[in-house]
Amino acid sequence: MATRRKKTVRDVDVSGKRVLVRVDFNVPIQDGTVADDTRIRAALPTIRHLLEQNAKVILMSHLGRPTPENRDRFTMGPVAKRLETLLGKPVTKMDAVVGPEVDEAVAHMAPGDVLLLENTRFEPGEKKNDPELARRLAALADLYVNDAFGSAHRAHASTTGVKQVRPDLPAVAGFLMERELEMLGRVLSAPQRPFVVVLGGAKIADKIGVLRRLLQTADAILIGGGMANTFLKAKGLDVGRSLVDEEATDLARQLLEQAGDKLRLPVDVVVADRFAPDAEAHVVDVAHIPPDHMVVDIGPRTVQAFTDVLSSARTVFWNGPMGVFEFPRFAEGTFAIARVLAGLNQAITVVGGGDSAAAVRQAGLADRMTHVSTGGGASLEFLEGKTLPGVAVLDEIEEE
Ligand code: 3PG
Repeated sequence: MATRRKKTVRDVDVSGKRVLVRVDFNVPIQDGTVADDTRIRAALPTIRHLLEQNAKVILMSHLGRPTPENRDRFTMGPVAKRLETLLGKPVTKMDAVVGPEVDEAVAHMAPGDVLLLENTRFEPGEKKNDPELARRLAALADLYVNDAFGSAHRAHASTTGVKQVRPDLPAVAGFLMERELEMLGRVLSAPQRPFVVVLGGAKIADKIGVLRRLLQTADAILIGGGMANTFLKAKGLDVGRSLVDEEATDLARQLLEQAGDKLRLPVDVVVADRFAPDAEAHVVDVAHIPPDHMVVDIGPRTVQAFTDVLSSARTVFWNGPMGVFEFPRFAEGTFAIARVLAGLNQAITVVGGGDSAAAVRQAGLADRMTHVSTGGGASLEFLEGKTLPGVAVLDEIEEE
């Protein structure tokens, strides 16, 4: 039976062509340098492939959420420097996204050259998906590649507009995009069972769509982190001064009713007297959270209970830390989950981007996961079953 899939850089001839590549170089910058280059490294296979095939590589990305007042902090300068080091070759960094200097520089590119446009969000038309900006970007290209899975949930000029204004422009996925779609696609559509989901992080509101969707397919959903407090409160427990998503308590109650025992909550927690790395802290049963304390991590009995469920899993998806893992004393629950996943040799383990990806990297265990997504919001929207606009515009190919 014929199936359709997205075309990738493997399916097109790029030799000598101007290839406009949307990457997600939205990386943390500290003191003018790149503090974590995971996303830049993740785009290297596509960039190297294009260079080996003698393409002229024009890269573009957004960086942060700049305003006209704080633009300087969000220039692509530090990213260009790190990319040069990683690629081991010069990268021409432009001071503009579009305009005569860019047109001129692109016109003089030779095969094997790399050019990086300035932060696409310096152009007001980027987030509005302005067709005029998209046309100017499209005019730079003979071919468009989207390797920015992390930004594929945004319908912006650089992620969707370029193809929308030039439907004839070949538009294909890069290797990172291909792998993200394949790994997250397996979690969404064909998880091997038992399929266990671990969800944490602060707000239920951010995860509600994915929670609803995964409740239909998962065999168990283990809840930790700040969002567990809202569920505990919805069950009538006193959570003291813990972070609670007050607006979501009714919703949490509904979900608990709907989910039955599929949804597992912490049975014990670490509580602290204040939100500080050196706070006084101890472990209590969830029924005995002191009114003047706050939950900062899951407790050891919860780690054990979650481990028992995870140990027989064949597919695991994890998004969101189990506690305040940025304070080392309250990172134990999060790191324990990372260690359990690292030890599941028979299972497919997929970690959503954002904080949980940072946690597995901090624990030194990223290589032991089947896949660590570079997408935060994008991976959640994908797993909700939504069509990502940056993926929808890419060309398809039919396969036997
Ligand atoms: C991300 O970091 O999730 C992506 O780069 C998208 O960034 P945004 O949320 O600012 O659009």
